[in-house]
Amino acid sequence: MMKASRMNTPTPPGRNASRADTATNAGRPAPARVSLPQYAPAAVREAPAPSPAHIRGQRRMIDSHGRVIRDLRISLTDRCNFRCVYCMEPDVRFAPSDALLTGAEVVRLVRVAASLGVRKVRLTGGEPTLRPDLLEIIRGVRAETTVELAMITNASRLSREDARAWREAGLDRVTISIDSLRDDRFARITRSTTTPDDVLRGIEACIAERLTPVKVNAVLIRGLNDDEAADLAGLARRYGVEMRFIEYMPLDSGHAWDASKWVSAAETRDAIERRHSLVRRVDDARSSTAQNYDFADGAPGRIGFIAPVSSPFCGACNRLRITADGKVRPCLFSATEWDIRTPLRDGADDARIAELLIDATWTKQAGHGIASPGFEQPLRPMSAIGG
Ligand code: 5AD
Ligand code: SF4
Repeated sequence: MMKASRMNTPTPPGRNASRADTATNAGRPAPARVSLPQYAPAAVREAPAPSPAHIRGQRRMIDSHGRVIRDLRISLTDRCNFRCVYCMEPDVRFAPSDALLTGAEVVRLVRVAASLGVRKVRLTGGEPTLRPDLLEIIRGVRAETTVELAMITNASRLSREDARAWREAGLDRVTISIDSLRDDRFARITRSTTTPDDVLRGIEACIAERLTPVKVNAVLIRGLNDDEAADLAGLARRYGVEMRFIEYMPLDSGHAWDASKWVSAAETRDAIERRHSLVRRVDDARSSTAQNYDFADGAPGRIGFIAPVSSPFCGACNRLRITADGKVRPCLFSATEWDIRTPLRDGADDARIAELLIDATWTKQAGHGIASPGFEQPLRPMSAIGG
């Protein structure tokens, strides 16, 4: 287990003040907590340098560390009806709607990425179900590609009818987030009026409509919900789903992450094992972000630990992200983003779009270095990057 003392405590929000703390606050001490404008992509660059000719010639997305991209996460919106404490502050600013990729642009990007070897696509947010044209996007991707199509949602608006409509449009799988089973805590974490029961009904709807395997995500935060690991693990047994615990990452818009709030995967596993023994699965895909476990007593469901902080899985990463406003982010923690929306709108042909994806992938950094000195939290929170 990683000791808190070994971890780099990220730059306190105040030291980043120049980014958010404009003329009005000049010369005054930085506030204790700065909500960074979400729509402030840091270092958006127009086009990456051309990757080597033999790389371009392969017609695959391969980075300079030898990793091949098979998994694309594309954000449909940076907006959300929740304000999870580890993700976005209540006053976060969103991209103007004309900055968002249109449905047709999303479908086109997915088609081009699929032609370059992408096999899995996840529609993310913010909250992707806020997109009025969600069904058209799903239908478009399904009509033009054979990728495995998944979506992540907070399930606040997830009825059985929704799940059926998504399935019929061509969605394969759904991942749902739930961080607490207690009404008061759920409200405190999400700052929404949705209840845990609403989310559980959403999980049931997805199972009933065979949007399976359903995955359920939780982020534990010290002092907030870290005593609920075993209760949340119980959802795996109750519904036969994969319950995944994601270590809290420094990707919150308030830049309030610090090591004292972080709960390691090892600690979470210990807490679960005090109630249910677990056995490690041996068949994990190498690029799987999760360390997966079955219940030793043969109960249905499984438990996954996603431990980007204590055991980074960057070496096997096969993912690429595109933000809702059309920027390619080779890594969740990229400091540089590549603009793909402008060429899409300026009449670039598919060959040029493919070239941009290949070149941007080539720049993918080796790892995120969360735990190393000098780590810089990206300007964009998770909701703007697309989980
Ligand atoms: N750390 C870890 N996980 C996060 N998520 C959002 N922000 C963070 C963060 N700072 C999770 C959400 C969701 C998925 C997209 O990412 O809970 O399950
Ligand atoms: Fe919304 Fe997901 Fe961020 Fe929560 S974590 S505010 S549900 S985008």
